[in-house]
Amino acid sequence: MKNKIVFFFVMLLLISACNSTEKEKPSNKAEAIDKGIGPIKNVELGKIDPALVKKGEETFVAKCSACHKINKRFVGPALKGVTERRSPEWIMNMILNPDQMVKEDPTAKKLLMEYLTQMANQNLTKDEARSILEYFRTQTENK
Ligand code: HEC
Repeated sequence: MKNKIVFFFVMLLLISACNSTEKEKPSNKAEAIDKGIGPIKNVELGKIDPALVKKGEETFVAKCSACHKINKRFVGPALKGVTERRSPEWIMNMILNPDQMVKEDPTAKKLLMEYLTQMANQNLTKDEARSILEYFRTQTENK
Protein backbone atom coordinates (compact mmCIF):
# COMPACT_ATOMS: atom_id res chain seq x y z
CA MET A 1 0.00 0.00 0.00
CA LYS A 2 2.72 2.49 1.04
CA ASN A 3 4.72 1.58 -2.05
CA LYS A 4 1.75 2.27 -4.25
CA ILE A 5 1.32 5.74 -2.78
CA VAL A 6 5.02 6.53 -3.26
CA PHE A 7 4.80 5.26 -6.84
CA PHE A 8 1.77 7.48 -7.44
CA PHE A 9 3.62 10.59 -6.23
CA VAL A 10 6.71 9.79 -8.26
CA MET A 11 4.53 9.49 -11.36
CA LEU A 12 2.83 12.80 -10.56
CA LEU A 13 6.22 14.50 -10.22
CA LEU A 14 7.40 13.04 -13.52
CA ILE A 15 4.24 14.13 -15.33
CA SER A 16 4.44 17.69 -14.01
CA ALA A 17 8.16 17.87 -14.85
CA CYS A 18 7.38 16.85 -18.45
CA ASN A 19 4.57 19.35 -18.67
CA SER A 20 6.68 22.24 -17.51
CA THR A 21 9.44 21.58 -20.07
CA GLU A 22 6.74 21.36 -22.76
CA LYS A 23 5.48 24.76 -21.71
CA GLU A 24 8.90 26.40 -21.83
CA LYS A 25 9.43 25.77 -25.54
CA PRO A 26 6.90 28.21 -27.03
CA SER A 27 7.86 31.03 -24.66
CA ASN A 28 11.49 30.76 -25.81
CA LYS A 29 10.31 31.23 -29.38
CA ALA A 30 8.28 34.29 -28.40
CA GLU A 31 11.51 36.03 -27.42
CA ALA A 32 12.46 36.28 -31.12
CA ILE A 33 13.31 39.87 -32.01
CA ASP A 34 10.71 42.19 -33.51
CA LYS A 35 11.47 42.56 -37.21
CA GLY A 36 8.47 44.71 -38.07
CA ILE A 37 6.36 44.20 -41.20
CA GLY A 38 7.60 44.65 -44.75
CA PRO A 39 10.00 43.44 -47.43
CA ILE A 40 13.03 43.04 -45.13
CA LYS A 41 13.23 39.61 -43.47
CA ASN A 42 16.88 39.39 -42.54
CA VAL A 43 19.81 41.83 -42.37
CA GLU A 44 23.38 40.67 -41.86
CA LEU A 45 25.48 43.31 -40.12
CA GLY A 46 29.23 43.30 -40.56
CA LYS A 47 31.86 45.82 -39.57
CA ILE A 48 30.70 49.39 -40.14
CA ASP A 49 31.39 50.35 -43.77
CA PRO A 50 32.46 54.05 -43.98
CA ALA A 51 31.53 54.45 -47.68
CA LEU A 52 28.03 53.14 -46.97
CA VAL A 53 27.75 55.45 -43.92
CA LYS A 54 28.57 58.45 -46.12
CA LYS A 55 25.94 57.46 -48.71
CA GLY A 56 23.43 56.93 -45.92
CA GLU A 57 24.12 60.30 -44.34
CA GLU A 58 23.61 62.06 -47.70
CA THR A 59 20.36 60.21 -48.31
CA PHE A 60 19.20 60.98 -44.76
CA VAL A 61 19.84 64.71 -45.22
CA ALA A 62 18.06 64.74 -48.59
CA LYS A 63 15.05 62.56 -47.75
CA CYS A 64 14.52 62.48 -44.01
CA SER A 65 15.81 65.66 -42.38
CA ALA A 66 12.59 67.54 -43.17
CA CYS A 67 11.06 65.50 -40.34
CA HIS A 68 13.93 64.02 -38.35
CA LYS A 69 16.90 65.30 -36.40
CA ILE A 70 19.43 62.97 -34.86
CA ASN A 71 19.64 64.61 -31.45
CA LYS A 72 16.21 66.01 -30.82
CA ARG A 73 12.55 65.35 -31.37
CA PHE A 74 11.18 67.12 -34.46
CA VAL A 75 8.15 66.06 -36.57
CA GLY A 76 9.30 62.51 -35.87
CA PRO A 77 11.43 60.97 -33.09
CA ALA A 78 15.10 61.83 -32.54
CA LEU A 79 17.02 59.05 -34.23
CA LYS A 80 20.05 58.90 -31.98
CA GLY A 81 20.46 55.38 -30.68
CA VAL A 82 17.65 54.01 -32.84
CA THR A 83 19.77 50.93 -33.64
CA GLU A 84 19.89 50.22 -29.91
CA ARG A 85 16.11 50.23 -29.48
CA ARG A 86 15.01 48.58 -32.77
CA SER A 87 16.24 45.68 -34.85
CA PRO A 88 17.94 46.37 -38.23
CA GLU A 89 15.01 44.71 -40.02
CA TRP A 90 12.45 46.83 -38.12
CA ILE A 91 14.28 50.06 -39.05
CA MET A 92 14.47 49.15 -42.75
CA ASN A 93 10.82 48.07 -42.82
CA MET A 94 9.83 51.36 -41.18
CA ILE A 95 11.72 53.24 -43.92
CA LEU A 96 10.39 51.13 -46.82
CA ASN A 97 6.87 50.36 -45.58
CA PRO A 98 5.76 53.07 -43.10
CA ASP A 99 2.07 52.98 -44.09
CA GLN A 100 1.58 49.34 -43.13
CA MET A 101 3.95 49.61 -40.17
CA VAL A 102 1.90 52.33 -38.45
CA LYS A 103 -1.30 50.34 -39.05
CA GLU A 104 -0.13 46.88 -38.01
CA ASP A 105 3.14 46.93 -36.08
CA PRO A 106 2.47 47.52 -32.35
CA THR A 107 5.61 49.65 -31.79
CA ALA A 108 5.03 51.85 -34.86
CA LYS A 109 1.34 52.23 -33.94
CA LYS A 110 2.36 53.61 -30.54
CA LEU A 111 4.76 56.07 -32.19
CA LEU A 112 2.00 57.32 -34.48
CA MET A 113 -0.25 57.91 -31.47
CA GLU A 114 2.54 59.87 -29.83
CA TYR A 115 3.68 61.94 -32.85
CA LEU A 116 0.27 62.31 -34.53
CA THR A 117 1.89 62.68 -37.96
CA GLN A 118 2.19 59.73 -40.28
CA MET A 119 5.72 59.09 -41.52
CA ALA A 120 5.88 59.54 -45.30
CA ASN A 121 7.06 56.80 -47.61
CA GLN A 122 10.08 58.33 -49.38
CA ASN A 123 10.16 55.51 -51.97
CA LEU A 124 13.73 54.58 -51.23
CA THR A 125 15.36 51.50 -52.73
CA LYS A 126 16.44 48.70 -50.39
CA ASP A 127 20.07 49.77 -50.95
CA GLU A 128 19.32 53.35 -49.92
CA ALA A 129 17.49 52.15 -46.81
CA ARG A 130 20.42 49.86 -46.00
CA SER A 131 22.87 52.79 -46.29
CA ILE A 132 20.76 54.87 -43.86
CA LEU A 133 20.79 51.94 -41.44
CA GLU A 134 24.60 51.96 -41.68
CA TYR A 135 24.62 55.70 -40.93
CA PHE A 136 22.31 55.15 -37.92
CA ARG A 137 24.78 52.54 -36.61
CA THR A 138 27.28 55.39 -36.15
CA GLN A 139 24.74 57.61 -34.32
CA THR A 140 24.54 55.72 -31.05
CA GLU A 141 24.57 56.98 -27.48
CA ASN A 142 28.22 56.19 -26.86
CA LYS A 143 29.66 57.77 -30.04
C1 HEC B 1 6.67 63.52 -43.06
C2 HEC B 1 7.65 63.41 -42.03
C3 HEC B 1 8.63 62.25 -42.05
C4 HEC B 1 9.55 61.93 -43.03
C5 HEC B 1 9.81 62.61 -44.37
C6 HEC B 1 10.29 60.78 -42.51
N1 HEC B 1 9.83 60.42 -41.28
FE1 HEC B 1 10.49 58.91 -40.12
N2 HEC B 1 9.01 59.23 -38.79
C7 HEC B 1 8.11 60.29 -38.85
C8 HEC B 1 7.16 60.15 -37.75
C9 HEC B 1 6.04 61.13 -37.44
C10 HEC B 1 7.52 58.98 -37.06
C11 HEC B 1 6.79 58.31 -35.88
C12 HEC B 1 5.82 57.26 -36.46
C13 HEC B 1 4.65 57.89 -37.13
O1 HEC B 1 3.99 58.75 -36.52
O2 HEC B 1 4.39 57.58 -38.33
C14 HEC B 1 8.70 58.44 -37.72
C15 HEC B 1 9.38 57.30 -37.30
C16 HEC B 1 10.59 56.90 -37.81
C17 HEC B 1 11.42 55.85 -37.26
C18 HEC B 1 11.16 55.07 -35.98
C19 HEC B 1 11.83 55.84 -34.85
C20 HEC B 1 11.84 55.11 -33.53
O3 HEC B 1 12.11 55.77 -32.52
O4 HEC B 1 11.57 53.92 -33.49
C21 HEC B 1 12.51 55.74 -38.07
C22 HEC B 1 13.68 54.78 -37.91
C23 HEC B 1 12.37 56.70 -39.12
N3 HEC B 1 11.20 57.39 -38.93
C24 HEC B 1 13.28 56.89 -40.13
C25 HEC B 1 13.07 57.74 -41.21
C26 HEC B 1 13.96 57.84 -42.36
C27 HEC B 1 15.25 57.06 -42.50
C28 HEC B 1 13.40 58.73 -43.22
C29 HEC B 1 13.92 59.15 -44.59
C30 HEC B 1 13.99 58.09 -45.58
C31 HEC B 1 12.17 59.23 -42.61
N4 HEC B 1 12.01 58.60 -41.39
C32 HEC B 1 11.34 60.17 -43.18
C33 HEC B 1 8.09 61.28 -39.78
C34 HEC B 1 8.81 61.30 -40.96
